[in-house]
Amino acid sequence: STPSRRLSLLTPSGRLTLGNLLGALRPMRAAQAGAECFYGISDLHALTTPRSPDVLRAAITEQSTLLLAAGLDASTLFRQSQVPAHAELSYLLECVATTGELGRMIQFKEKSRRQQSVRTSLLTYPVLMAADILLYRPTHVPVGDDQRQHMELTRDLALRFNTTYGEVFTVPEITVPTAGARVMDLADPTSKMSKSGPDAGAIALLDPPDVVRRKVARAVTDSDTGPAAVRSDRETKPGVTNLLEILTACGGSPEGITTYGALKAAVTDAVVAELAPLQARYRELAADPVHVSETYRSGAERCREVTAPVLAAARTAMGL
Ligand code: ADP
Ligand code: NA
Repeated sequence: STPSRRLSLLTPSGRLTLGNLLGALRPMRAAQAGAECFYGISDLHALTTPRSPDVLRAAITEQSTLLLAAGLDASTLFRQSQVPAHAELSYLLECVATTGELGRMIQFKEKSRRQQSVRTSLLTYPVLMAADILLYRPTHVPVGDDQRQHMELTRDLALRFNTTYGEVFTVPEITVPTAGARVMDLADPTSKMSKSGPDAGAIALLDPPDVVRRKVARAVTDSDTGPAAVRSDRETKPGVTNLLEILTACGGSPEGITTYGALKAAVTDAVVAELAPLQARYRELAADPVHVSETYRSGAERCREVTAPVLAAARTAMGL
């Protein structure tokens, strides 16, 4: 196993946001200096809920291009669906997973409650996630709270497989991710900004400056008009706190700002300046789609090489 191997997948379930940039893409870029990184577009995971093929295709293309534009080109970039080992190992792991334990996953219970008709893949999603991880034999996997239960399932499945069929998988340690900024929704600062949430409170990475300005201008603050209104307090001033954190994370400074109007102007400027080089690079890359698809094609090839021995060992251990 490779001690410094890192794996992250992003699901093309919407348009990447400022939250994804500060909380995921930035740390992913930084990690490239100290680890061999595999960064994937988990397009199979996007199929667990219904969406039109055209919308999915557009999201995959946009996200693929954005990962390159965000400076992740020192990594192996790939699309999950272009590495068949993911789906194949997922099936093999379904043969050690039980419907009982999958039905107990909190995310499945929450998401399936909101739907009339639930896709089987929503139930088996954490098994595919286990395959995504175990194929690359990372020793450590940084996961946030929302994925902790799925990561524990990954460990359970790996251990159960090893006990039943022989030592095939490296059982990864779960580590706490390096704290990036947690960006909250501008319209509802008590929930996180999300690519799969409502558009009004989320700044998309490709939003032009006037759209950024409008969204920030409409950001929820509070009715405090005192001389110390512009200050952080997560409990009582979530909207203002979020704006201050975005400002700082985007290289701005709250020094001398005393009104919400001035704060919003400063946040707009900082976000627009943060996104400008990314958007310029995106436009260059979008003009050369062959280069982008070639990058992902060769990335998938590298992934096939890396994962082939693990898949072969699992197949053989099971008697195939
Ligand atoms: P989303 O809710 O935007 O669909 P995901 O839950 O798919 O995002 O997470 C993708 C990555 O982006 C994860 O690494 C997650 O920690 C990070 N991320 C998502 N939203 C935010 C946010 N609002 N602030 C910081 N990081 C975020
Ligand atoms: Na999400």
